[in-house]
Amino acid sequence: MGIKFIDQVDIKNKKVLARFDFNVPLKNGKILDDSRIRAAIPTIRHILEHKGKLIACSHLGKPKGKVVKELSLSPVAKRLEELLEINVDMAKDCIGEEVQSLVDGLNPGEMLLLENLRFHEGETKNSPEFSKELAKLGEIYLNDAFGVVHRSHASVVGVTEYIDIVCAGFLIKKEIEYLSNYLKDPARPFVLIAGGAKVSTKLGILNSLMHKVDRVLIGGAMANTFRISQGYPIGKSIYEKNLIEEAREIIAKARENNVGFYLPVDYILGKDIEQEVPMGVYPYQNVDPEGKIFDIGPATHTLFSEVLRDAKTIVWNGPMGAFENPTFSQGSFGIAQSVAAIDGTTIVGGGDTDNLIHGCKLQDKITFISTGGGSFLEFLEGKKLPGLQALGFYD
Ligand code: 3PG
Repeated sequence: MGIKFIDQVDIKNKKVLARFDFNVPLKNGKILDDSRIRAAIPTIRHILEHKGKLIACSHLGKPKGKVVKELSLSPVAKRLEELLEINVDMAKDCIGEEVQSLVDGLNPGEMLLLENLRFHEGETKNSPEFSKELAKLGEIYLNDAFGVVHRSHASVVGVTEYIDIVCAGFLIKKEIEYLSNYLKDPARPFVLIAGGAKVSTKLGILNSLMHKVDRVLIGGAMANTFRISQGYPIGKSIYEKNLIEEAREIIAKARENNVGFYLPVDYILGKDIEQEVPMGVYPYQNVDPEGKIFDIGPATHTLFSEVLRDAKTIVWNGPMGAFENPTFSQGSFGIAQSVAAIDGTTIVGGGDTDNLIHGCKLQDKITFISTGGGSFLEFLEGKKLPGLQALGFYD
């Protein structure tokens, strides 16, 4: 059977229940980064132009089965109206009679946005009842939410059991093409940059890419676990105690595979993440016992940039520090500049890294920015993802 895409399906006059990933960062009801909404536009336009009746749905945040007003999708409806220049009606819920009558009232070429799927606990539990309720709304199911294909949730997996015609949108198509093709036979040197807070979320990709990459750069708080595993001080910084042994094994594996493995050699320290004046720059052997590591230092920036200079393929996930505070953003912004400057293929994934790239307006200098975070990592690890499996991708 295999995966089918939306342009292979006759959608005229049909109700298309479409799962998107509109999980965008919000502050006081304002969307801080609309990339994920923009990424869905080609599929939405295709459905509307081909006279389908579009019933769009998504999650936003983690409301844990309860209605949380701040996590309503209404700011997304507004943004869609601006981007599409059409009227986008918003339902008060995502299942039920009232929603059904709004769906029945849709004309070909019109769209309705359902309220946050995760206001119902059946969504994350992949409950058959909730899946059936959702399935009642559409004659065709479409998934274009690459960011959630690693989740076994009702709107991603369960619903596909109850709708005969199942397909994927253009965003999923683009993501799987880029992430498969560029990395099948990557141009070398091939460098992996892993940052962010936790080693635990990067273990899979570190282990699976260790046989493929030439160099690995580690930044962010996850570097602390590696440094502590070597016996170096990290002051009062966070680290993952239960992963110290694993960190040692990863370093050993890099050595066995002849992979250059680079950790920060200096840091910017602070007492708390909000502060405006940092404590200063400290070499990795000599971290102030009262300080916390919030960014890589200038020597690390120079070293990492040198390691990246001749790279032909870079995969990057996770910032180098607490870049949301300008006091600790220089390391992450500097590495973003170095990545953008290479003459080769650059692939970036993860919400924070995406925000970082947009924050320094380098998005046009990156070959591909994945909309996925966890799904991006798990796809690159070569895991079978439930959302793609439900679409027939592995058949
Ligand atoms: C993401 O932000 O990576 C996706 O929207 C998935 O969100 P989740 O981690 O809350 O499932």
